[in-house]
Amino acid sequence: MSGAMLEIGDLHVSYGQVDAVRGVSLSLQRGQIVSVIGPNGAGKTTLLAAAMGLLPSKGVLRFDGEDLHGLDVEARVERGLCLVPEKRELFGELTVLDNLQLGAFSKKLRSDALKQRLQSVYDRFPRLAERRGQRADTLSGGERQMLAVGRALMSSPRLLMLDEPSLGLAPLIVREILSIVRTLRDDGVSILLVEQNARAALESSDLGYVLETGEIALSGNSHELAEDPRVQATYLGGGTHDDE
Ligand SMILES: Nc1ncnc2c1ncn2[C@@H]1O[C@H](COP(=O)(O)OP(=O)(O)OP(=O)(O)O)[C@@H](O)[C@H]1O
Ligand SMILES: [Mg+2]
Repeated sequence: MSGAMLEIGDLHVSYGQVDAVRGVSLSLQRGQIVSVIGPNGAGKTTLLAAAMGLLPSKGVLRFDGEDLHGLDVEARVERGLCLVPEKRELFGELTVLDNLQLGAFSKKLRSDALKQRLQSVYDRFPRLAERRGQRADTLSGGERQMLAVGRALMSSPRLLMLDEPSLGLAPLIVREILSIVRTLRDDGVSILLVEQNARAALESSDLGYVLETGEIALSGNSHELAEDPRVQATYLGGGTHDDE
């Protein structure tokens, strides 16, 4: 037995003729933060979308030993999977509170349980509590990312998949978001973190995978990966280019 919480083996995902994910294998143990780094178009978002059930895939895809292929998105959320998408996908015209309530997913949830989850999100993100009545489209970039994570937490995930949480945020806010991600891990939520920001991702994760044109080029302990000359040359920038 592998004991992995998430097991991906020789996974293939295509858009028509375009093979975006080509034989990816990856495994995540309970309690880990695993990062997937790689450049634009490497297939990172595609990989997460397939794991969430938003795209069909071929190969091994298991969560807690259960084959995910037969399960739709809602069933995967029920099992404890949740995705924070790259574009955040908030309802801009709705308030912070409304967005959070929509994240709870299950209509079966009792209202006291809903209140409890809401309170725990507010405890984690006091800024969301202060802004609970504010429209989502008036939040700052960092607050929007917090809301996207908070909304995902409303489904009580056991494995949270984050698609480029640092995208478009200032370095200080990136650090704040990633520190919240590590706190989540310490509280028992496993994390699959997709990032173009290789430095931040490797600093925050236990294991790392480098995805290039749909294939895993390198993988290993994050600290060791960060020391790897190939990773340094390509992803950690020897030179002095601007942060994106
Ligand atoms: N809806 C689509 N139809 C056709 N091709 C697509 C579609 N979405 C993505 N692709 C292609 O699949 C490949 C992987 O895209 P993907 O969005 O997964 O990359 P990514 O690693 O997330 O990139 P980024 O860092 O820019 O978000 C790219 O070549 C992209 O052009
Ligand atoms: Mg992407």
